[in-house]
Order: sequence, then C-alpha cells, then structure tokens
Amino acid sequence: MSKEVVFSGIQPSGTIHIGNYLGAIKNWVALQDRYPCYYCVVDYHAITSPYEPKTFPHAVLDAVAANVAAGLDPARSTIFVQSQVPEHTELCWVLSAVTPVGELQRMTQYKDRARVRREVVNAGVLNYPILQAADILAYKGTLVPVGEDQEQHLELTREIARKFNAAYGPTFPEPEVLFTPSRRLMSLSDPKVKMSKSMPGSYLSLMADPPAIKEAVARAVTDTGPTPGGEMTPGVATLFQLLDVFAPAKTAERFRAAHRAGDLRYAELKASLAECLVEGLEPIRLRYRELIARPDTLRDMVRHGTARARPVACATLEEVREKIGILKT
Ligand code: TYM
Repeated sequence: MSKEVVFSGIQPSGTIHIGNYLGAIKNWVALQDRYPCYYCVVDYHAITSPYEPKTFPHAVLDAVAANVAAGLDPARSTIFVQSQVPEHTELCWVLSAVTPVGELQRMTQYKDRARVRREVVNAGVLNYPILQAADILAYKGTLVPVGEDQEQHLELTREIARKFNAAYGPTFPEPEVLFTPSRRLMSLSDPKVKMSKSMPGSYLSLMADPPAIKEAVARAVTDTGPTPGGEMTPGVATLFQLLDVFAPAKTAERFRAAHRAGDLRYAELKASLAECLVEGLEPIRLRYRELIARPDTLRDMVRHGTARARPVACATLEEVREKIGILKT
C-alpha cells in the first residue's frame, strides 16, 4: 500500500466550470486508481462568501453530482461533504493556535477581499486557509491536486504542519501540491484574469449544453491588442489550451501551424473547438442530468463518503488531542 494520500476540495458556490475541471478535477479522476483519495465539497469554506441558505443544501448536492459526472467514482474515492465530518472544524481550531496571524494576512485571497472594505471582511476569510490545512491534515494528506491559485494556501499548510510538528512532535506530513498542464485557465471574457465562478461570462460550465458551449466559444475574446513578434495573445492561448485537451492532436497541430504561418482564422478555430467541446462534455452533461434528478441517491453517496472519511479524521483528532494535552475522562 502506498504511503501517499490524496486530498482535495471544491467549494459548492456557483457552477463548476472547465477551469475547475482542467485545473483540478481531471487530475482527481486520474489519481483515484493510484492512491487512496479523499475529495471534499467544502461547504464551511463557502459560507465565508455571501450565499443563499435556502438553496445551499441543493448547491452542495449539485457539486457532488458534477464531480461524480466528471468521473469521480464513489467506489474508488472517498467523496464527502466537509460539514458532515466536524473533526475538520475541531482541527482547524487546534491549528489556529500554531498559525501566525501575519501569515494569514499575507494571503492573496484575504488581501483581495480585505482591499474592497477592510472593516467588513469577516474573520472566516482570514481563517479560511487554516480550515483548508485542517481538511488536508485530518487525513494526513501528502498530495494535493489543485489549480495554481491554491499554491499559496498549500505553502501555508506546510508551514502549519511544520509548526505543529515542532511544538508537539512528528504528526503531520508536509503535503505537496500537484498541478495539471492547465493549472491556470484564463477567463473567456477577459484573458488577463483567471476563469472564475464569481465572474459570469468568464467561464464555461462543465455541464453547458451545446448552444451554451457554442455561444461561450463564439464570445471568447481573442485579440486583446498587438503582441510583439506575432506571439499568441492570451485569449488565443486559452483557446489552444482547450484545443489541446478536447481536440485530436492532429487538429490542434493544424491550427498551430496556421498560427505560425500567420493565416489562422479565429472563426474556424472557434467552430472546431466548439464542436470538440460539445462532444467531450456531452457524457458529463448527460450523467449530471441523471444524477441531479436523484437527490436521494446523491444523499446516499454523501452518507457513504462520510462513513469512510469520519473514522480516519477521528483517529487523527484522537492523536492530536493526546499530543496537545487535552483531558481524557
Ligand atoms: P475552488 O472551489 O475555488 O476551486 C476548485 C479547484 O479548481 C481550481 N481552479 C482552477 N484551476 C485552473 N484554472 C482556473 N481558472 C481555476 N479556477 C479554479 C482551484 O485551484 C481548485 O483546485 N480553497 C479551495 C477549496 C479547498 C481545498 C481544500 C483545496 C478547501 N479545502 C483542501 C485543496 C485541499 C477552493 O476555493 O477551490
């Protein structure tokens, strides 16, 4: 049995998009045959941003459905929901006692949110990376497949693990980050920023139907001004990134050659890409539709995942409580 343990998470906030898929979920699917894998819908992270409590349970099941539709297999991976394993939040508290506030304030995600209005940013946004560290360390995770935007949080997770180990003795591994070749997929509407759930128009939903796919690709920004020496503009580079994943290698190479020769027609590139995306995303969309129509099956899946995850997290917490000197009665 390998000593590697894979852990990763996704927030149930908004539609899961091809950035999530190419940057993370595709890797999760590939890893499930090699290592023990824990994949978590992180609902307690999501409540640090504005959300709708009434529809939140549905949003959580929706995220489970999308991940399973994308290829996660509840028989091979432990797929579960963060709030169902309260040991995550307990470990978060313990780890907060070894985490310097200064490190939390240095996090880009916190700085971005605090820049808008420092006095209203909630403490959950500041403490967010500690809960993320707790997610991973509750399973003694060693490999964390994520997109590039999570790298800083992973660095902090390693530091938290080091600090805990130094204070209380060797307990946690220092988890490594795993990237895919698409570790950062840019926005379709503004290729200078990353594709993001919080920016409508920036993303293509993983569950988009053929008309929505065609429209999103047709609208994708290609030229953002002149580039030196005929280099690819960031928007065109994003289209090629998608082509590399969804089109046959021959097709991608043909368009690359046209780009090099200076006679690439964006309309042709987009039409071909849209077709490949329609074909590539079709099985995911159909499977998602089946799953989302059966909320009871999804609930069973979550229960099954919780039953597998919780004993592992409980064992870690028992060890942690003992090491930090918590009363046992
Ligand atoms: P979240 O929900 O924002 O995103 C889920 C995953 O998708 C990746 N991703 C991208 N990858 C490439 N290009 C993009 N444009 C793009 N947008 C998103 C993210 O990097 C991520 O891997 N904090 C995490 C959730 C989390 C977590 C964890 C992750 C909580 N606990 C423990 C790993 C381990 C987040 O907000 O992901």
